[in-house]
Amino acid sequence: MPLKSRHLLGLQGVPEEDIQTILDTATTFREVLERPIKKVPTLQGKTIVNLFYESSTRTRISFELAQKRLSADTINFAKSGSSTSKGETFKDTVRNIEAMKVDMIVVRHESAGVPQFLTRISNANVINAGDGRHEHPTQALLDMYSIREKLGRLAGLKVCVVGDIAHSRVALSNIYGLKAMGAEVSLCAPPTMIPKDIYRLGVKVIHNIDEAIAQNDVLNVLRIQLERKAGTSIPSLREYHNYFGITKERLEKQNKDILILHPGPINRGVEISSEVADGPYQIILNQVTNGVAIRMAVLYLLGTMN
Ligand code: CP
Repeated sequence: MPLKSRHLLGLQGVPEEDIQTILDTATTFREVLERPIKKVPTLQGKTIVNLFYESSTRTRISFELAQKRLSADTINFAKSGSSTSKGETFKDTVRNIEAMKVDMIVVRHESAGVPQFLTRISNANVINAGDGRHEHPTQALLDMYSIREKLGRLAGLKVCVVGDIAHSRVALSNIYGLKAMGAEVSLCAPPTMIPKDIYRLGVKVIHNIDEAIAQNDVLNVLRIQLERKAGTSIPSLREYHNYFGITKERLEKQNKDILILHPGPINRGVEISSEVADGPYQIILNQVTNGVAIRMAVLYLLGTMN
């Protein structure tokens, strides 16, 4: 089934059937990643540029690997070392790159809305790899894939996103995606880290982490985004850990099965203890592996639409 849009700018408004198509396609590519030769010719002849204006480890490497696994030609652009430092505008940079005949653009930027803007100045398929505090759709897709892989379904599951919701793009994409797939989504954080109008998205908000653990099947734990001044929303990182940190003691006190996800990067001893980050409840590195399959699926589905 072809997707409704030739871009992936976010999960807001993306229908359940499109998310299902991406997750099911990723299952096929997940199998490719287990083969001795982890490569298929699907996007041979396509040229993809990874336009990263903000730091990234997982997303950048995962997209590049996904492109190589699909036999596409890949170009990596990083803000540092580019002509941005000489005063070139974003629009001129994109136009120059596109003049070299690029088919798809993967973009990460500190400003919300940049992927949308790109669709107006370029003919390439655009994939959002994280824009400001707005959305990070492939992260939410790989989160959903990893939950479904472990628990067999998404519909009817209770999933709580824990932490710095106010500064998070992962939270918003998780809310849109999980709700479209029929999961019950809640948020747990100090009141200062919850946007006031978030209720409009149909999510429950709680402020007690022990209740969140007791009431949910899955916790998706977010880091405090200090680079976005989140430190001003809490008295200290130690206090945040004391009240909201996911620890072995807290999980064991509830004596129940629960799945812990984290998009990374982890701040050990802040939002999650090392014991939990490396322990039996979490699937953090499975998420990273599945991320390559999800990005292969998105690149394939969009790249073969043109
Ligand atoms: N989860 C995530 O987006 O990580 P990076 O910032 O390392 O890409």
